[in-house]
This record gives sequence, structure tokens and C-alpha cells, in this order.
Amino acid sequence: MSDTPIKDLPVSEITKAQAKAEIGLLSGGLRRANTAYHTHDAPEIADAEYDAMKARLLALEEAFPDLAAKDSPTRQVGAAPAEGFAKVRHRVAMLSLSNAFDDEEVRDFVDRVRRFLSLSADDPVAITAEPKIDGVSLALRYENGVLVEAATRGDGTEGENVTANARTITDIPHTLTGGFPDVFEVRGEVYMAKDAFAEMNRQQEAAGQKIYANPRNFAAGSLRQLDPAITATRPLSFFAYAWGDHEALPAETQSGVVAAFASWGFKTNPLTKRCDSVEDLLEHYRMIEGQRAQLPYDIDGVVYKVDRLDWQVRLGFRSTTPRWAIAHKFPAEYATTVLEKIEIQVGRTGALSPVARLTPVTVGGVVVSNATLHNEDYIAGIGSDGAPIREGRDLREGDTVTIYRAGDVIPKVLDVDLSKRPDWAVPYVMPDRCPICGAPAVREEGEAVRRCTNGLTCPAQAVEALKHFVSRAALDIDGLGAKQIEAFYADGLIKEPADIFTLQTRQQAGEIDLYRRDAKGRATNEKSIQNLFAAIDERRSPDLARFIFALGVRHVGETTGRLFARTYLRWDAFHQAMTTGDREAILAIDGVGAILADAAIAFFADPQNEAALDRLLAHVTPQDAEAPAQESPVAGKTVVFTGTLEKMSRAEAKARAEALGAKVSGSVSAKTDLVVAGPGAGSKLKKAAELGIDTLDEDSWLALVGG
Ligand code: IVH
Repeated sequence: MSDTPIKDLPVSEITKAQAKAEIGLLSGGLRRANTAYHTHDAPEIADAEYDAMKARLLALEEAFPDLAAKDSPTRQVGAAPAEGFAKVRHRVAMLSLSNAFDDEEVRDFVDRVRRFLSLSADDPVAITAEPKIDGVSLALRYENGVLVEAATRGDGTEGENVTANARTITDIPHTLTGGFPDVFEVRGEVYMAKDAFAEMNRQQEAAGQKIYANPRNFAAGSLRQLDPAITATRPLSFFAYAWGDHEALPAETQSGVVAAFASWGFKTNPLTKRCDSVEDLLEHYRMIEGQRAQLPYDIDGVVYKVDRLDWQVRLGFRSTTPRWAIAHKFPAEYATTVLEKIEIQVGRTGALSPVARLTPVTVGGVVVSNATLHNEDYIAGIGSDGAPIREGRDLREGDTVTIYRAGDVIPKVLDVDLSKRPDWAVPYVMPDRCPICGAPAVREEGEAVRRCTNGLTCPAQAVEALKHFVSRAALDIDGLGAKQIEAFYADGLIKEPADIFTLQTRQQAGEIDLYRRDAKGRATNEKSIQNLFAAIDERRSPDLARFIFALGVRHVGETTGRLFARTYLRWDAFHQAMTTGDREAILAIDGVGAILADAAIAFFADPQNEAALDRLLAHVTPQDAEAPAQESPVAGKTVVFTGTLEKMSRAEAKARAEALGAKVSGSVSAKTDLVVAGPGAGSKLKKAAELGIDTLDEDSWLALVGG
């Protein structure tokens, strides 16, 4: 035998036993390198060495295929480790649910459904009720009965491909049984049972590993492991309760489809019930609430869904939630603790937000050490309508307070126990200067919030604006999250959005150095920086709606970003409309109110913002938006409904028209293209006639839009 070390022998010359030993060493080394790189963000080996190890492992696995482990680092999902998981675009968006917090809101939900469908009070409406599992939603795509793809929800439009991980979950069938459509996407919740969670946390602690706050976080962390072998060691479960893309449906009702899921091999929740009245729903809710503590898994409410699927289709969706379902949440949980300190955070729009630092306390299984205090009035015991709250009791550092936590929202301070107030406690005084930059913080007439007046010159506002710019719903730059932005800002490398796009040229010109270097001056993070440059390049032509949202104009959320993009289609058209300041034209957009219009005009009138935008647009070209469904005969038209509609409710008519790209307005003007008039139409019909606007009755309208 030669003295050459195995690792230096050509693959063609080594024996199977030698290959096995070397594969073991390489896999272990690559796994350690991955953990150091991804989990601890502290690479232990140079990128070139990593690549060489991976190439050698690949060559060995090719030469000895039966030695290639299923979970080998060469088979990691998403290929290059720095990219993490591959992205999956959901064919049908994964939406969330709106919430009801009391019986009244549940009654309102059922009433809304009836009104929307034009049903009378005594028409039966069957609605299912089932536990809302506190886990992570997952979409499972089956083709010809075989699991081909599993994706997390992500931002609802795009999730992460976690197929290899999903295959390790016993409740998720690899192949379906019985009769199933050729293509079907089953959706449901991955969760960790309470006792499994307690046991896993004990093991993690003993091994000096990360401890999770609750079963949901543990389930999420386990599902998003880059190494499926780790996911396989985590006791995860799955309930199927919904669906996405599908070729055919196995039933005509929600309960029927879920029953089919069970016949295909899925676990479905045994506490699901089909109810015939609101009273039935509420009774089932109370039954589930009564069992909550004894259930083997965490739940945070009960979900109600209209049973008939043709009605679900008619009811459709608002921007992010279905009209045919609602989550009835369990009431908040309370705890008592000490308000140790009141601190001020400065947000993206300069708002000074007081935050309570609390003596840590457990509320509903989660350790809470911070709570929101809203604004200075709230601390002083004054509500948003000017009336006293907590009977006027103010909050002071040192006070014993009741806090509450409802679901995922940030905990709130509810009340104070004056009998426990220490002698030294003094009323809280809100600072009149920004605690970050020292500029005056001003409270405008009629506003509860005090704001730093320094705009983007204030480091807090600048860094928050940058975080918003790169955030998931905005430009979504891979590898450039809140933490990295803070670090780049602190190092003076990125001060405004335009700087993101000049990082690479500045690096190449030697003006900055983004590389971490070892003792010999060699870069140790070359790969991650190259990946970052590539991710930035991918965003040089962003989606118009995302770009508008990313600018951080006050009151312009994701929905408004999309609305503006749909209305103006091109950046120049949008920009011109905002800068020429034609307030009336902006207000004419359905969905834009005065506060929003004024905020947008003010944003673009600020020379500081305009200058920053000019610098940004030197590197970024927003893509034109797609015009809404042009093939529809009413796309882009402004429609007014008047009189009584007999075949559908006003709400349904409006939703249908909007889905077809029409704008629905409440009043007839020269801008109106079409008036749909039912019996009893009066002044609007008359005005339409005067203006010579086309008028249709309900049947002709239905014929026009396809029934
Ligand atoms: S139905 C169109 N049913 O709650 C929405 N969701 O707040 C379809 N969830 O993202 C969702 N248990 O992750 C539905 N029985 C259940 C659920 C459930 C938990 C989660 C799900 C969803 C979130 C919405």
C-alpha cells in the first residue's frame, strides 16, 4: 500500500472502505462548516476549502453511489448552502384569517355572510368549527398521489421549499391512498405536541443547545432545518384542513373535502364539527375552550368556515383574508409583574414609542419582558378619545402592573396596582427631544404621537427606513436583513437605500472593504459577500408595487402599494401624479382617503426624499406593473351600482366587479363608465341619463360579466 494519504489519492484509485471513511470525514466537516456559517454566522473554514471538500465528496459519491447518504451535504435543498432553501411561488396564495374576539363578532361574521349571499335570516347556513392549531402552515403538492413538493407559507405568495424535511414527518403521507385527483395541494398545520416539546427542550438544554419558548417556535425551527436529518429527529405532527392548487375537488363541501383527506391517509382534527346555527358554533367553541388545557397540542382559537364550497367561491377574498372563514380567538391571558423602566424607541416615521421593560413573567407559556405603552397619553391614563382609561391612573417606573397577551400580538400593560406603588415613583415625563439624535420631538395638534423632527438625518429613522426598504414585503434582498443593515449602517457603509446598490462598485474600487480577513489577510467570507452582491443585483428591477411600498411613505402599506401600482402602472406616471400634487386626482382613486393622499404628497414634496430617490433611481428601475385583467369587458371601467340588486348583494356585486378589474364608485360623475340599476333606482339613474352614461339592469350586467 502506498503512503499517500487517502484524501490525496485520485478517486479512481481508492477502495470502497477508504471511500467510506473519507465520505464520513468530509460529510462531518461540511456539516460543521454549515452550522458555523449559517447558525453562528462565524465561518470556520475558507470558502475555497469548503468548495474543495464538497467537490471531493461529490466525486466520491459518484464513484460509490451506494455510499451516498440521503442526507449528504451534497444533497442539501437549495444547492448552495448560503442560499438556504429554494423559493416556491404559491400557485394559490396562502392567506391568513381575520379574527373575532367575542360572540358578537361571530354573529357579525355570520350576518355578513348572509348579507353577501343575499340569504334571508331563516335560510340555513352550515358552518364548520375546528380548533385553530398553534403551529406552522405547510402546503403539500401531490402529483398522481405522490408528494412532490412541500412549501412553507413565507409571505403568502412565496414560501420555502422544505420537501426533504416534510418527508421526515410521519403524519405526512409520501403517497396517497384511495381515489384522489391527479394534482392536489393539501394544506395544514405542522405542530409539536406539548409533551414532545417539553421533552425536546430538556434534551436541548442537556446538550447545551437552543431552548425554544413554545411548541410553535420549536416546530417552526425544526421544519426550517437545512439538514433534513435534524428535522427527522424532531417529533413533528401534521393536521390537514385546507387546500390550494387542485385539478378537481373530491366533494362539494368543506367537511366533505376534509373527510376525503382522512381517506387519503391524513390526520384530520377530531374536534371538527359541522354546525347549523351561530348558537351551535358558540357551543362548540366553549366545548373546545373547556378542553384546551387537556389537549395534547396548543391551540389559540376556533376556526369557522362556510361549509358549501360554491358559497366559499362566491364569498371570495379581501386582500389577505377569505370572507368565508374567521378565527374566533381565545381571550387574552394575564399576569402581574413590575414595570422596571420606560424606554423610548424611535421608529421609521420618527414616532417616539414608549416601551415597558418588565421583570420577566410567564404569560400563557411565553416569557414576557417587554410590553407596548403606545404613547404618552396612554401612560398618563388618557385614552385615544381623550376620556380617562384605568380610571385615570397613570403608569410609573416601579409600579406593579397587570399585563396581557392575546395571541401573537405584542403584550400590553393593562392596569396598575396603586397600593403597591413605591414612595419614590414619580410621574413619567415624555422627552421633548429625540433620544437618538437630540432633535426636538414634536407632538402635532390632534396627534397622540410625538415625533422626531430630524427626518432621515436621525440615525434611528434612517436605519429603520433601510430595514423597511429591504424587508420581505418590500425589496426582499436575500442576506440583507435587519441585523446586517444595522451593522452596515453602524460601519457607515450604507446610509440610504442607494448605497445598497453601490456596495459592489465601491468594493471593487477599493473604497470599502466588506471582507472579514484572517491573519494572513485572506477573505473568509468571500462567498457570502458574492452571494449578497448577486441578491442585490436581482433587485435592480423591482416590482413597482413593492418599490412604492419600500419607500416607506406614511400610511402606504402593501395593499396601497399594490393599489398605486395597479392605478399608475409605471413609476414615472406614479411619481408625476404625486409630485404635481393634484390632490383631487389622487383622491379619485377608490381606496385612497385624505390622510393617505396628503401623506403621499408631503413625502414627495420633501426635497430630502426627492434627492435620495434620485440617487436610488440611478441604480434601480422599477418594472412596469401589469394592467389588471384586460380581457374582462369591464377592466379599467368605473361602475356604479344603484337600486336594489336581486340576484346578489351590493357587496358581492362590488367584489365581483373589482375582481374583473373595474373600479366601483358610490356616486355618478363624468368619470363613470357604467351604471347598473335595479328596481327603485332614483337620482343616480337620472344623473346617468343626463350625463349620457350607459345603463344596464342586473341581468344584462350578469350577462356582460359572464353570469
Ligand atoms: S384555514 C385561507 N384552519 O391559522 C386561510 N387555518 O391565521 C385558510 N391555522 O395561516 C386557513 N389552524 O396557519 C385554517 N384549522 C385551521 C387552522 C388554521 C391553524 C393557521 C394557519 C393560517 C393561520 C391563519
